[in-house]
Amino acid sequence: MILTVGNIKGGVGKSTLACNIAAALSFQGKGGGVLLIDGDKQGSAADFAQSRADLLGEAGFTCVRAQGKEVVNQVVTMRDKFAHIIIDAGGQDNPSLRAGLAVSDKVLVPVAPRSFETWALEGMAALIEEASITNAKLEAFAVLNLAFPRGSDNSQTQDIIREDYPNLTLIEPPVVQRKAFSDGAGQGLSVLELKPRNPDAIAELIGLISGLGVNQNDIKVIYNGRAA
Ligand SMILES: Nc1ncnc2c1ncn2[C@@H]1O[C@H](COP(=O)(O)OP(=O)(O)O)[C@@H](O)[C@H]1O
Ligand SMILES: [Mg+2]
Repeated sequence: MILTVGNIKGGVGKSTLACNIAAALSFQGKGGGVLLIDGDKQGSAADFAQSRADLLGEAGFTCVRAQGKEVVNQVVTMRDKFAHIIIDAGGQDNPSLRAGLAVSDKVLVPVAPRSFETWALEGMAALIEEASITNAKLEAFAVLNLAFPRGSDNSQTQDIIREDYPNLTLIEPPVVQRKAFSDGAGQGLSVLELKPRNPDAIAELIGLISGLGVNQNDIKVIYNGRAA
């Protein structure tokens, strides 16, 4: 899978989800099967990989920083060497995002259930549509992230996505705003590895990765250093 995690809106959890997906898939096979491309100048994904390597001895996946055209070069030269390439495209309508959309087979758009976010979705959907002209294989997905633990805002936003953006496949369940995601990312850990375990966060991440079409058996949940 070559996946761009992108949205022109910042702060929606692109880096958080890209890093969690990369770490979760890195457990598959002998490891090293995942390339995480940090396309954002802020370098959050690269920071995650560094914290992870400091904590665990090795990140378990390869992380490179690349922007714009360099994202395309990385994908073209690396796609035969890795089972999965995950691109954290960064915010705004930037060259890395366009590059990612040009060379990916999937794009995941995290959307927060707040009205500003759904307004920004229009611009993102237009970018995806434009990319699809030259990249016919591009499949587009959306997921609610930073979802509320309860209340009707989640379902309202999901209804907007379903009704107004039929080209985006909505992945469920939503990813709720949970300390496990922010604490884990700060340490370089996915919620699959973080202790104490948060079963709800784990279920949401596994649901997200399955929704992207990755075989569930490729996701290994590590408890106490052992694959479960
Ligand atoms: N599901 C979540 N639960 C809790 N905090 C989250 C979640 N997703 C993102 N965050 C937090 O929200 C902020 C923005 O997330 P980030 O991944 O940096 O967004 P982006 O890359 O889109 O700018 C960060 O502080 C991150 O820790
Ligand atoms: Mg980011």
